[in-house]
Amino acid sequence: MLAERWSPRHFDATAPLDEAALQNALEAARWASSAYNSQPWRVVVARRGTAQHAAIVSTLSGFNQTRAGSAAALIVFLTEPSNADSKVQPTASYDTGQAVAYFTIQAQSHGLFSHQMSGFDPDAAAAALEIDSRFTPTTVMAAGTPGDPAEIPEGLRERETAPRARRAAADSVLVNA
Ligand SMILES: Cc1cc2nc3c(=O)[nH]c(=O)nc-3n(C[C@H](O)[C@H](O)[C@H](O)COP(=O)(O)O)c2cc1C
Repeated sequence: MLAERWSPRHFDATAPLDEAALQNALEAARWASSAYNSQPWRVVVARRGTAQHAAIVSTLSGFNQTRAGSAAALIVFLTEPSNADSKVQPTASYDTGQAVAYFTIQAQSHGLFSHQMSGFDPDAAAAALEIDSRFTPTTVMAAGTPGDPAEIPEGLRERETAPRARRAAADSVLVNA
């Protein structure tokens, strides 16, 4: 399943959101580990057709906006760098990433594809969504059904369908004593 996951750049603009898959993915994220079990993250879920979805689209950078705006849902993952008692949570971004990873894998297991994006304006997103300043928008995830590759302009289509590549596992191991 991990090998089959990939991040579509193009989503089906008409396919409905699999609500059960979304709820299961949120449930999976909830069970991610975090430092001191602080769970220093939150989400904004915006379904296509809502004002919030349109607002998030408007904060995406050009390329992301044209490609991801059709996704059935846009989900903003927010980090909480300091908690409600102003206690700094130094691993907040790391913990948020773990929750997102759990989300993506659970979603994928239901056929709900996702594509994370850091190419967006976090201040504009926080303002548009009226988010408490304690939370920092970190990534926007497009989630839904991949679009028909035939609808993707030539050139971009190759990138969309190219095999995924990674460095070898051994090359990530700096010390292997
Ligand atoms: C934190 C983060 C930020 C990303 N930002 C963008 C983005 O702004 N635009 C984009 O097209 N892809 C973005 N991506 C997607 C990555 O480019 C993609 O995950 C990577 O190329 C590996 O491809 P795969 O997910 O299909 O395996 C982002 C991924 C992550 C995890």
